[in-house]
Amino acid sequence: MAEEEVIAMERVLTLELVRVTERAAVAAAKMRGRGDEKAADQAAVDAMRNELNRLDIRGRIVIGEGERDEAPMLYIGEEVGNGDGPEVDIALDPLEGTTICAKNLPNSLAVIAITRRGGLLNAPDVYMEKLAIGPGFPEGFIELDMPPAEIVSRIAKEKDVRDRDVTACILDRPRHQKLIEEVRATGAAIRLIGDGDVAGVIHTTDPEQTGIDFYIGTGGAPEGVLASAALRCMGGQMYGRLILDSDEKRKRSERMGIEDPRRIYSEEDMASGDVLFAATGVTDGNLLHGVSFRRGIAMTHTIVTRSYTGTQRWVRARHVVEDKFEFID
Ligand code: FBP
Repeated sequence: MAEEEVIAMERVLTLELVRVTERAAVAAAKMRGRGDEKAADQAAVDAMRNELNRLDIRGRIVIGEGERDEAPMLYIGEEVGNGDGPEVDIALDPLEGTTICAKNLPNSLAVIAITRRGGLLNAPDVYMEKLAIGPGFPEGFIELDMPPAEIVSRIAKEKDVRDRDVTACILDRPRHQKLIEEVRATGAAIRLIGDGDVAGVIHTTDPEQTGIDFYIGTGGAPEGVLASAALRCMGGQMYGRLILDSDEKRKRSERMGIEDPRRIYSEEDMASGDVLFAATGVTDGNLLHGVSFRRGIAMTHTIVTRSYTGTQRWVRARHVVEDKFEFID
């Protein structure tokens, strides 16, 4: 198959994206630890939407807060941007890990990915089986249906360590009981996370910093697309398969253009062409600091990256905010 020429996105958008996730993160951070997931999410949604509507784009939400009838803002299909500039598709989660933010636990993020029109998988809000590793492994090194023991021993061999020196990241859910037993039987360690598998996948891109070698298990399909976008930019491999275990889900996904319900998607199938990705920490995490507030100041920590060049920018920003942490525009 001839390689398609990738058309680069307007690179100026990269830095614009930082503003978008920063705003959402600051808004959500004000609600950290208050036990109110909905309010935290709403604050992040409002802030992200306002900022997105200032961008020079003709944007369409592909992965958002839900279907139009269940999400008043940033719903799938909503047009965003100021109507000038390129036609782009957008995957976003203004607050990834609403529960962890409400409990003030680590690794909640504000995230967004942008591609040219048609670059993102239109994934329904169902579960997805996922497997991800970071950069530096040969293409096809892992497969979605590979037994966990094989994955662990391949990673150990490639890294020249023992199986027991490998760490998996898995969502702490009853549905993962068998998987957890299988991974533990290899001697490998597991980082069990309460929520937030976009961060879980991103953490595989820097095992030395995060201690995570691979991500495995079932989580939200929209989060799978966002995580794929991140890996396209930061390096790594990800595979996902939708779980369409009812007629209703199969019909819904058909309407969204899914032809083969058992298809295994690679990170490139989920986020293709030039991809821009940004994430700002809401709570402190393994790769990003959370928002910190001082009198009149909000500090944010963001990664913004672009698949075309692979450049990663880690942006520490000091925002002058007014009373009650409102931005001065
Ligand atoms: P929210 O940000 O919508 O709360 O999602 C958090 C999350 O943990 C995702 O990271 C993950 O993909 C999904 O929920 C897992 O779903 P479930 O909680 O149903 O197991």
